[in-house]
Amino acid sequence: MSEVNEESKPGSAAPKAEAKAKGKKDEAQDTLWSRRDFFSLAGWASFTATLGLSSLYFLRLLFPRVLFEPSPKFKAGNPGDYTVGEVSSKWVAEQRVWVVRDNEKLYAILARCTHLGCTPLWLRSEGKYKCPCHGSGFTMDGMNFEGPAPRALERLKVEIGPDGQIVIDKSKVFLFEKGEWGKPGSFLRV
Ligand code: FES
Repeated sequence: MSEVNEESKPGSAAPKAEAKAKGKKDEAQDTLWSRRDFFSLAGWASFTATLGLSSLYFLRLLFPRVLFEPSPKFKAGNPGDYTVGEVSSKWVAEQRVWVVRDNEKLYAILARCTHLGCTPLWLRSEGKYKCPCHGSGFTMDGMNFEGPAPRALERLKVEIGPDGQIVIDKSKVFLFEKGEWGKPGSFLRV
């Protein structure tokens, strides 16, 4: 019995080659589609990402970053709460402000040394403010007289609010060297 190879059978080679070619074509098409899928997915992903980022940016514009700082104004009680001839240190810890009352007026001094910004101490027995950092000294009304501080302490705006209480505004300062200690707002007549 003669052995006949399948491939040698007449008419069997052509369909196999056809099938092989079709297989290759399918494979090429699959590769093409998978590439198309990939690019399509990548496109959607980048579109979604762009949309998301744009939305975030838009939301960010709707809610601008605002720094909430404490108000520079505070109520400091009634003029009658302050003794004539005394410096009150009751607002130093909380507001860094002294309130001074003399026979005619009341004013507020910022407790910040004009040398490098340390907080001086009111030394009642010596009648002066003394800076613990480099030894600057200031008289009761805020004039610099010893140490490296180059100028007087700064005074702050004072006014009487609608409820009769003193309102001190730390955003407005009055400087001695500019002749501002006599300006309206730099003191209250009492
Ligand atoms: Fe007050 Fe230097 S910071 S003397």
